[in-house]
Amino acid sequence: MKFIHITDIHLIAPGAELCGCDPTANLSRVLEDIASWQSDAAFCVISGDLADEGDPQAYRWLRDKLLDFPLPCFLMLGNHDVRGNFLDVFTDHPRDASGFVQHSHNAAEAKFLFLDTLTGGPDTHDGELCRDRLDWLEAELEQAGESPVYLFLHHPPFDIGIPYVDEIKLRDPDALHRALKVGKNIRHIFFGHVHRMTYVNWRGYSFTSLPSTNHQIPLVPDRAGSEYSVEPLAYGVVQIAEDQFTVHFDAYLDRPTSKNSA
Ligand SMILES: [Fe+2]
Repeated sequence: MKFIHITDIHLIAPGAELCGCDPTANLSRVLEDIASWQSDAAFCVISGDLADEGDPQAYRWLRDKLLDFPLPCFLMLGNHDVRGNFLDVFTDHPRDASGFVQHSHNAAEAKFLFLDTLTGGPDTHDGELCRDRLDWLEAELEQAGESPVYLFLHHPPFDIGIPYVDEIKLRDPDALHRALKVGKNIRHIFFGHVHRMTYVNWRGYSFTSLPSTNHQIPLVPDRAGSEYSVEPLAYGVVQIAEDQFTVHFDAYLDRPTSKNSA
């Protein structure tokens, strides 16, 4: 099977600029590319930071945009989101019994778990998995048994070597680690938040992240010393077979906008 991973779309008002780029135009371009070239994927995941300031107008724009998108789309929250505003717009989006935007998707090949690490509150950007959310995760992993499991969360539980990003990672990594140990067959974990393409192995678990669809976080400071940089955006094309797992980090700058113009 194949699915698509996108992250950190940071939507603001259509046409407005964020860090020198237009988030709605960028996401439109990504969705058009997926619809043209990857429409046979089973689903798409957007792993948080849907709206740069949790603005209801941005959520409404996303809801309307996805009406024409050919793939089912699972949405997650990041530190820039506002859970209440999101749920006011995406009223039918799955959530757990405690109201967090956590949900699972069962396919023939594997179980997919989508976590909600949003702490909430003004100017709070580090992530949290409270006891209720960890209980949900442990119950889902228990239920999965020996079946393959793929996990998604916005905040990573580890440092990546960029100090101001490391300061706002997931709180209490050991609590997540204890919950992961309930799983018997966790194959891979996808994350967002860091606006960079990374592969990490943390305590035996493999993780990958992707660039934002709008602005990136430089590995080394640029000449202006900015926290953000303009680097190629990308989305993930993930292929799962019984004995193989492949992630393409597709930056696709040099191809036609649709199959028809190829
Ligand atoms: Fe972000």
